[in-house]
This record gives sequence, C-alpha cells and structure tokens, in this order.
Amino acid sequence: MSWRPDSWRKFHAKQQPEYKDLEKLAAVEKELKRYPPLIFAGEARNLKEKLASVSEGKAFLLQGGDCAESFAAFNADNIRDLFKAILQMAVVLTFSSGRPVVKVGRVAGQFAKPRSSDYEEINGVKLPSYRGDIINDIAFTPEAREPDPERMIKAYNISAATLNLLRAFARGGLADLHRVHSWNLDFVKDKALGAKYEELADKISEALRFMEAIGINSRNTPQLRETVLYTSHEALLLNYEEALTRRDSITGDWYDCSAHFLWIGDRTRELDGAHVEFFSGIKNPIGVKVGPSMKEDELIALIDKLNPENEAGRLTLIVRMGADKISDIFPPLLRRVKAEGKKVLWSIDPMHGNTYKTQGGLKTRDFEKILSEVKQFFQIHKSEGTYAGGIHLEMTGQDVTECTGSVSSSITPESLSHRYHTQCDPRLNADQALELSFMAAETLKEIRKQ
Ligand code: PEP
Ligand code: CO
Repeated sequence: MSWRPDSWRKFHAKQQPEYKDLEKLAAVEKELKRYPPLIFAGEARNLKEKLASVSEGKAFLLQGGDCAESFAAFNADNIRDLFKAILQMAVVLTFSSGRPVVKVGRVAGQFAKPRSSDYEEINGVKLPSYRGDIINDIAFTPEAREPDPERMIKAYNISAATLNLLRAFARGGLADLHRVHSWNLDFVKDKALGAKYEELADKISEALRFMEAIGINSRNTPQLRETVLYTSHEALLLNYEEALTRRDSITGDWYDCSAHFLWIGDRTRELDGAHVEFFSGIKNPIGVKVGPSMKEDELIALIDKLNPENEAGRLTLIVRMGADKISDIFPPLLRRVKAEGKKVLWSIDPMHGNTYKTQGGLKTRDFEKILSEVKQFFQIHKSEGTYAGGIHLEMTGQDVTECTGSVSSSITPESLSHRYHTQCDPRLNADQALELSFMAAETLKEIRKQ
C-alpha cells in the first residue's frame, strides 16, 4: 500500500477540530498547498544526522519553547529572548558535557494543543475547549471558540516570519560566541545565578582569546560565529501538516516541511490512529511522547511502525512520566528497547508528568519535581548502560511566574498570578531554565565521573 500525505484520512484522528464550513476548509488547504515550504528537506536530513550522533552518545539534545505559541505574543522581543535563553542553556550544557548541543525550539509552528476535555465549563456556561491559536481563540465566547480554518493561514505566516528572524539571529552575529556575555538576559534577576553564568562566560572568553592568538577566530571559523536552531512542534492538526508535506526533489521522499522535527503527543499515539499513519510516511526526524500508560509491547510496535529500518536519528522517544512514577515505569521500557536493539534517542520532558492545579485554580509545576525527574532519568540511564540524550522543556525567555520553586525565582503558589501569561501549560521562566541547565550539567558531569 502506498503512503500519501492524505492517507491519514482513512484512519481515526483524535483531537481534531470540527470545522463547520468544509468549503472554507478545502479552500484554505488548497491555498496552503501552494505556499512555499517553511523548511528544506536537506535541513531535516542534517538534523537527523545530528540526532543520530546524539543517540550514539556523542552530542546532547536541547529542545524547548512555549507550550503553545500565540498570535498575540508574536513579536521580535519574545523571539529574541527565547533564542538567547536557548543559547545560554546550550553553552552551559556544552561547557560541562564537552559535547555539542543540538538546539531545537518548540517554535515557529507550535500552535495546536491536545486537550483532556472537549469542553470547558465556567460558571455553568459550557463551550468547546481552546485548542491552540491555529484552531480557535482562547477568549471564552461561543464565537471565539468556533474553529476557523483561516487561522491556519495566519499560523503559517507567523511561523514563516518567526523562522526568518531565527535564521537571521543564528547567522547574523547574535550567536557569535564572542557575545556570550550579552546573552545574559537583563532580567536574569537572581544575582547568584547571573554571576555563575558570568563566570562561565569569562572562561569561554578566555578560551576564545587563546584561540584568537593562535589564529582561530570568528572570521575564519564559522562555528564560532554561527549556530543552527532547528524548529519543531506537535504535528497535531493533520489538515495543516498534510498541506505542508512535499516531495523532496532530490530523493523523491516526502517531508513535512512545516518544521524540521515533528512529534506525536501522548494523547494521539495509538498504533492504528491517523497520527501514527501520517508520521510513518514522512522522512523528517520525529518524536513520540512516552507517558506513564505506555506498555512494552506497544512501544516496540510503535518503534517498528515509525522506524522500520532502525535508522539512527529518525526517532526520539520523549519520556514524560512524572517524578513520582519514572523510577517504576521507565526502566522496564528502557531495558526492553535496549534488548531489542532499537536505535532511538531518549529525551526527557520533565514538564507534562508534573502538572497540578493550585487551590486558586492555576495549572502549575514545581521546580523540584521537574529537576527530580531529570535527575532520575539520567541516573536510570547510567544504571542501564544507556545514554540520556536530551531534555525537552516548556520554557520562555520572559520573566513569567508559572512554575513554582527554584532558588533563583522562589515563586510560591500564591505569587503565581503575578505574571501568569501562558496560553496553556506553565513554562519555566528564563531564570528557572538557566538554573535547570546548570543543575542538569552538574548531574551529567557527576554521572560521568562515577
Ligand atoms: C506538549 O508537549 O505540549 C504536550 C501536550 O505533551 P504530551 O503530549 O506529552 O501531553
Ligand atoms: Co504543554
């Protein structure tokens, strides 16, 4: 049976909007199909190669960004600050691990959200749930919650402009290692954390001066002046993903050109579902979230379906069990995948298994739990003789108050509402994300010494 970008339509697709105006939907899909791809297949292949080297233990994956990007928060400062926060974290991780860090943003397309309930009820009023800006609007009115296909066009345009700026930052000088001091965001308010970063930046500057003295500099060495930030999102809205799936003229293979890397969420990863079907035919590097309900046989079947050739770099398994569950649930899965000789990249998402609601009704996550899940993940890999290849975070370059705890931010459940801006799940702010990368880097170092 030959796969086509629309083969998924013959399967059951969970978490999709019910568009009322099907003519408008068809017109939007047709329009999107003529638009240029957002990424080039060759870039997706380059990322796959880099992820293959991560899965072999030679590099580390850092993936992060908003839970849900929003049309309203789309501006240059937000994009720049996320870019800088990721650069800072990557430099911390590179310095202590001594390995290259592959940087992937949850950005330039992270607009569709799976929801635990189809409806939301407030004071007796029941409306369809918000499903991300590519589908409907967050305002709690019947008009706002109506899925509108036109939003896909806006999401495409915003993704294109975001990617354009990210490419400019990556190539145009902002990522030059000589500017390592300037990546410290103005609002890294915590003095101790800021100082720790400055200390590391000083060491890098010293190394750069030495290299300059022996003739290696930004002018003759692009690695010092440029970087690559790849893009990724959950490919949830299949109408959109199908419209951006193109045949590569060089290889004849199909690539979903809405982003370099796409993943399947924990709620839509059923073996005979539309999402797995769609992903089985695209050649991008892909991910699957692995939550606490995953069974061993199910995981092996998923791996076989999504990576039948056992190609390194193709498949990233993003574990999200929760700090209280990971030590029971994850080791048997890991052993089984290892025993079967499957080549996968293991990454940890310490966010989605650690969400809870405060008494005030805000969704939050505690920094200690997040850190604990990351540490356990590293330790489990150490015990099993496998490689903990990456982390996947919901984070922002902004000074928000959405997750509690951490030394640098000391946010309490009561102070969460001060700057609680997320469209969906609580993100680490820039301080917390930087603090987490220092801690993760230290854990990595210790584990290597043991
Ligand atoms: C997410 O990454 O935003 C998400 C919804 O995750 P999960 O599918 O793991 O619940
Ligand atoms: Co989320």
